[in-house]
Parts: sequence; structure tokens; C-alpha cells
Amino acid sequence: MNEAQPTGQTATAQDDRHDYLPGFGNHVSTEAVAGALPIGQNSPQWVPFGLYAEQFSGTAFTAPRSENRRSWLYRLRPSAEHAPFTPYDGAPRLKSAPFDDVPPTPNRLRWDPLVMPEEASDFVDGLVTYGGNGDGETAGVGIHLYAANRSMQDRLFFSADGELLIVPQSGALILHTEMGRLDVAPLQIAVIPRGLRFRVELLDDHARGYVCENYGALLRLPDLGPIGANGLANPRDFETPVAAYEDRDIETQVIQKFGGRLWETTIGHSPLDVVAWHGNLAPYRYDLTRFNTINTVSFDHPDPSIFTVLTSPSDTPGTANCDFVIFPPRWMVAEHTFRPPWFHRNLMSEFMGLIHGAYDAKEGGFSPGGASLHSCMNAHGPDVASYKKAVAADLAPVKITDTMAFMFETRSIIRPTRWALETGLLQDDYDRAWSGFEKGTPA
Ligand SMILES: [Fe+2]
Repeated sequence: MNEAQPTGQTATAQDDRHDYLPGFGNHVSTEAVAGALPIGQNSPQWVPFGLYAEQFSGTAFTAPRSENRRSWLYRLRPSAEHAPFTPYDGAPRLKSAPFDDVPPTPNRLRWDPLVMPEEASDFVDGLVTYGGNGDGETAGVGIHLYAANRSMQDRLFFSADGELLIVPQSGALILHTEMGRLDVAPLQIAVIPRGLRFRVELLDDHARGYVCENYGALLRLPDLGPIGANGLANPRDFETPVAAYEDRDIETQVIQKFGGRLWETTIGHSPLDVVAWHGNLAPYRYDLTRFNTINTVSFDHPDPSIFTVLTSPSDTPGTANCDFVIFPPRWMVAEHTFRPPWFHRNLMSEFMGLIHGAYDAKEGGFSPGGASLHSCMNAHGPDVASYKKAVAADLAPVKITDTMAFMFETRSIIRPTRWALETGLLQDDYDRAWSGFEKGTPA
């Protein structure tokens, strides 16, 4: 029997190192202490160092092999060791399905950037829900923004309702998770599996960003069809943290979102105590600047689905529960073509955010940290100024720079929360973006 014990208060990846493993649903093995991983079986009678084995399942046990996601965690204490959860009354603006506190509106909506808090607020308490859809458990999304000015201190969060796609817009974050540390800055994204506990540390004075809480099938890379084996987001660029753990016997608050409501309990130690893990369910990050952008080299342009980074499929082929789509810097070379996004009406509902710079379909009003919503079948497209500029442009090759917009696109209408419809951030003149077009003159 190996009598060695894990050593050190914290065995994390060193600050000046970036220890990550390539990971997107592939099987990974990682240990913060050599010898912590059992060899050849998942739950031996005796786990090295007296650790506790725990299976962490992100899909049903019987999900097909190609869909099945689970990891085995080896930790200082079983995560089952905790007192009952009681209701948590923080994060008053965090909402969940059913999104029925106000009737859904067909109107096109746009919001100014979420204001940074003046009072102390961490990631959890700084979550604000703009809208969502679905049942809150098996389908749909919750769409949140966060604005925070302090790190989470001795408390952790997890959502039992969905995985969390975090899109920082301002301020770098360290996501201390049970399965290791993710450093995530604007222009990067992170995905935290449903149920995985984590703490958000701010590296700057403030942090702001977007969160898609995905109740549906796990996010994955889209199929590429005729594009072939390479392109868009490449699997090798997704990074999973190495195992890292905290050995801290300190009162730690654990907040969970369950059934749309928040609950809390207190544990006498840090539950970020996983010394080693293996499996194919893990948090990951991705650098959006590594997206291999594909577009037309002749005329017209493909549908914006060509910019899909990740997709949560539904049970209807090609009709996503949610797509995460970006609009990155890129060359525009199409000839005799209206190059900005065209006018359209869409079955899918579109929630957009802007991480950086400007978006090429709008001349103003859509600012970094802001948001817009164009729901099912409601017409939108370039504003008047963008339209006039595009039809008069000299169509030489031009590179769009200084931009990174994104979209959460979902098959069901996005139902705004009462807050989203009543906040002073909601622009009351957005429809004017499409007023003043000159009439066509066929005769
Ligand atoms: Fe659109």
C-alpha cells in the first residue's frame, strides 16, 4: 500500500505555466500528484492516497457511446458530504425557465451595455437574465449577462440545470473548477459542465460578459459536411485543465441552481479537492481568434451558420437547441455582392452580443457589452446607414478588423424577462434603425 499523502495546501498549475490538455470529448487522464490515478479500473477497493472515487456523469449512463460523457474524480472527501441545501436569496436578477413572467414580445430589442456594479458583487450575484426558452431541464437556454467587481470568496457555484458557456467581454477570469483551473480572457470562451462546481476569480477590477446556460444536449463541434476534415473551430484548439486541487479546511458556501432556483449549503472544506481525474467530461476553453473562418470567394455569402463554433443539437436534425456563432475579423472579397448580413426573417431566434469593436451590420447603437434580440420571423438586417454604405462601396477586397460579435441562436423564441423589458438599458428607438429606406423604383 502506498502510504504517501498529497502534499501542499494547493497543487495548482503554476501561474506562469499554462498546463492544459487538448480536450473535446476525448478521454483525458490527469493527476496533480503522481500516482493518484488508479490504474486499470475506476473504483478499486482502495484508491491511492486514500482518495475517494466519484463518477461525474454528464449524460445518462445508457447514452450511446458516441454521446456518452463521464469522468471519474479522485478527491480528498466525497462530494456527498454536505448538509441540506436551503434557499439562497442572492442573485435576485437570475431567472430560469419557464420564462413567463411577462408575455414574449415579437419586437426587436437592443440593450446598452450592462452597467458595472457599484456595490460589491461577484460573478454569481452579478448574473442578470435577459431571457430564455425551453423547460429549464432538457431543452432550451437561459441567457444571462454578468457584471462583477469582486472575486468569489470561499464560495462556489454550479448549475444543475445546464452547462454554462461563458463569454467574457471585459476583464479576465480564473475559473477554479473541481477539475482544474481555466484562465479565460475576452476573446476566449469557457464551457463548464452541468453540475461542476467552480469559483470565479477576477484578474481585473471589473468583469463583464455573457452566459448561455444550455439545458439541452451538450455543446459540440458542428459537422463540417463538404468543408471536409478541417476548418471552423478545430478540435485541437480546445483545452481542458490539468487536475489541480485545494486542501483547505475552511467554511465554504456552495450555491447551486436547481430547478430554476438557487440553493445554498456550507461545507467545512473546499470542495475543489479533486487530486486526479480521467474521462471525457470536463470543462474546456477555446480561443476565438483561432477560429478558421470560411466564407465566399466568389459572390454572395453563406448563411451565418458558416461561423458556428459550437452547437447543441435538438431532436430535429439541423435545428439546434442552440448554436454559438461568432462574427470574427475576416476578409471580404465577394464580387457584385451586398456584403453585410442581408435582410432576413428567421425561424430561429437570435440573441447577439458584442465582445469587441463594431459589428458590420450596424453603424452605431450596438456597443461592446450590449445585446440585441431578433426573435422568430421578425425582420432585421442592416440599418439604413450600413445599407447605403454597402451598396455604394467599391468592392475591392477589404478586411474587417476590430470586431468580434457573437450570437446565441436557438430554435425556440427567446422570451425576455421582465427585467430585460423594463431596464433603462433597453433602447426605445431601435426600430428607427430600419426607418427611412428609400422605396425601390421598378417603373
Ligand atoms: Fe439575424
